[in-house]
Amino acid sequence: PPAAAAPPSPYRGSPPKYHIYTTLAVWEDYIFGRPVYFSKIMQEIVEQLKFFSELGVTHLNIESQKASSLEKIREEIGDCRRCKLWNERTHIVYGIGSAKADLMFVGEAPGREEDVQGIPFVGRAGKLLTGIIEAIDLKREDVYIANILKCRPPKNRNPEADEVESCEGFLFKQIEVVKPKIIVALGAYAAQCLLQTKDPIGRIRGRFFHFQDSLLLPTFHPAYLLRNPSAKRDVWEDIKVVRDQLKELGSSYYS
Ligand code: URA
Repeated sequence: PPAAAAPPSPYRGSPPKYHIYTTLAVWEDYIFGRPVYFSKIMQEIVEQLKFFSELGVTHLNIESQKASSLEKIREEIGDCRRCKLWNERTHIVYGIGSAKADLMFVGEAPGREEDVQGIPFVGRAGKLLTGIIEAIDLKREDVYIANILKCRPPKNRNPEADEVESCEGFLFKQIEVVKPKIIVALGAYAAQCLLQTKDPIGRIRGRFFHFQDSLLLPTFHPAYLLRNPSAKRDVWEDIKVVRDQLKELGSSYYS
């Protein structure tokens, strides 16, 4: 017999993406043996989405959702004492910039000025980073900036393994929320930590690697450039590669 005609769809174009939630609801029910509660919540979300879809809404503004997810991670960090660095810090330096940034910069750890202000990259190296961002026609507010460590190590010494272990998970969560198209790892420490490698920065800089859903490009740290100005040329080459890749990936920065 001929197949029954599909009921008329209230949706134009491709089917809505939220069918995954209903699948997830069934799966959760099955795994945890809770037959109604979770799926009811999901059902309500689906109903709401249907309602908006019928009104002709085709996009949800996820920027505010991302911003509130970032706030939640900050709340989870709280008045952190997970490692010994809490003892000498002035401020936790969380991260700053656009929650929907296509480009994210990751440094090593706050320095003295960052510790005082609670904002990453605001000292001399930070001013240089701002110049690098502006060199590809962006503003600091367009990108997201964070560090591997959220507290300043005394006298800017290198981060220690237990400090990284306590802290890096929060950065990974921030990256997961922002989902930048490209991450620039500033300096050996950030690059080696994110890529889980011991390769020297001179060998890995200027090339793309994968990190979560993003491309990751290591380059020299701006503080290194203050001490070695001749390396600015390399960073300029690297940042042009980043700009071109952002364009190729259709970043709204350049449309
Ligand atoms: N160096 C870093 O790695 N991060 C900062 O925030 C400042 C200097």
